[in-house]
Amino acid sequence: MAILIAFVLCIIFIIIDNRRKIQQFLTYYSKARKALSKIGGPPSIPLFGSAHLFKWNVLEFTYQVEEWGRKYLLADPEKSHGLMHIWAGPVPVVVCGTHESIRIILESNSNITKPRHYQILERWLGTGLLIRTNDKWHARRKLLTPAFHFNILRRYIPVFGEQAQILLSILEEHAATNEVVDVFPLIKRCGLDIIAETAMGTRLGSQSHHNSEYIDAVYRLSQIAWDHIRFPWLWLKPIWRLSGYANEFDRMVDIAQNFTRRVIEERRESLEEEGLLEGEITEEQVRTRKLALLDLLLMMQKANALTDEELRAEVDTFMFEGSDTNASAIGFTLWFLGQNPEYQEKVHEEIDEIFGSDDRHPSEEDICRMVYIEKCYKEALRMTPPVPIIARELAEDTQMGDVILPSGLTVIVSPVSASRDPRYWERPEEFFPDHFDADKQSSRDSYSFIPFSGGPRNCIGQKFAVLEAKSMLAQIFRKFRVESIDIWPANRPLPEIILKPSNGFKVRLYRR
Ligand code: HEM
Repeated sequence: MAILIAFVLCIIFIIIDNRRKIQQFLTYYSKARKALSKIGGPPSIPLFGSAHLFKWNVLEFTYQVEEWGRKYLLADPEKSHGLMHIWAGPVPVVVCGTHESIRIILESNSNITKPRHYQILERWLGTGLLIRTNDKWHARRKLLTPAFHFNILRRYIPVFGEQAQILLSILEEHAATNEVVDVFPLIKRCGLDIIAETAMGTRLGSQSHHNSEYIDAVYRLSQIAWDHIRFPWLWLKPIWRLSGYANEFDRMVDIAQNFTRRVIEERRESLEEEGLLEGEITEEQVRTRKLALLDLLLMMQKANALTDEELRAEVDTFMFEGSDTNASAIGFTLWFLGQNPEYQEKVHEEIDEIFGSDDRHPSEEDICRMVYIEKCYKEALRMTPPVPIIARELAEDTQMGDVILPSGLTVIVSPVSASRDPRYWERPEEFFPDHFDADKQSSRDSYSFIPFSGGPRNCIGQKFAVLEAKSMLAQIFRKFRVESIDIWPANRPLPEIILKPSNGFKVRLYRR
């Protein structure tokens, strides 16, 4: 009895303490319910939404959402305006799944705010570019954009080649045994070593020795952040703390951030010794020295009043956004090619034509000539976009046809839905690199293919990713013929923060 009284008193106290927030929420709730009644979506009941229908198993949940998308969003895109709603408990979410609705969200210069779900990443990534908002985002984006100019990126091409060479020697051992190997962890480590060297100027060596506190921390942080995003009960601080997640997350954040801080200090000392932190950096210095992204940030730090922590936040953001995303894309490309020998044959032909019997690492010119490999990479991005959810919190009421989405609403843009739209894709459910023939590309709405997002807040690392992927794929296919074990649509991708295969990328490798 005493426990019950204590519980009721607790609830009353929480309600009194939060009465203004509750009032605001109820006003917003009734406004959103009215607006969303014009959009299709799964059945819901007040306050519980559609939560009672959600499948608990993640894989089954993906089938369920796909089915809802087909029924409510894609069956009649004109009528649905490319929209569908889902009530996650009392919280409404609107999914934009065709280029018409996606364009309105992504092209907006006002709707650039990330929803509350991203806040979990803030403890680790601070206010780095990915989660910054409003004017602060505009200014930072402007500052960072030149660091991703092609003239800067081309200097990283040798790093791509060197790291892929290490990957090849590991793959070689597997090819010799003729055993099935899951190449996903191998590609991930290669990607991590590349981004560490290009973003921070440091050699992590994760491909050669796997036991690193920093690497483990980065992996664990992504996993915990994803659990936090998908289990709403973890948003309640007491449960977050009691679950043990809070402690572990904080510990991992400290490990990851302290590592980055140490690297920044070392780089600063080294640049100071070379006199590169004084005065303006010359064109000559940019051209001749292999400067990491961090070096460029250090050089612009004083003039732009960047604090050390802001600098760290940007570097950690590059590390987070720049490794597993492309590892997923490269892995899926390799896996799709491994089950389509006729396309793989064309890749081999292209590589042989470019390199002949020469063993050189891919140069800028070689990468430019990899037209067919690029088509295959883009097709894998279309089928399995590494960032499966792009989310915004509306900063203003937004009109779509006769529907007005209220400000404050969470909107999810779905790259996978847009890129399976049968109005634009000849064989939407199949891996078909010809989708990216030049004439087909030019006749298609650009918002029907958005793996790197679109509009002002698109991926700043897009060119980096394409260069890295083409270089790595060419190195692998130059040496091996790949045969995939699972065949699409088996090995269904799982939508975590970054898309991953449910069964890894299991392949057999044959030396060419
Ligand atoms: C296949 C590889 C990649 C994919 C599919 C990808 C995809 C994306 C997407 C969809 C966004 C928008 C996210 C959102 O609005 O919530 C984004 C943003 C971003 N990406 Fe990438 N990315 C890739 C590689 C990279 C690389 C290699 C880097 C850095 C070296 C990078 C750095 C960033 C940053 C800093 C942002 C935030 C941009 C902003 O908000 O202004 N990405 N990326």
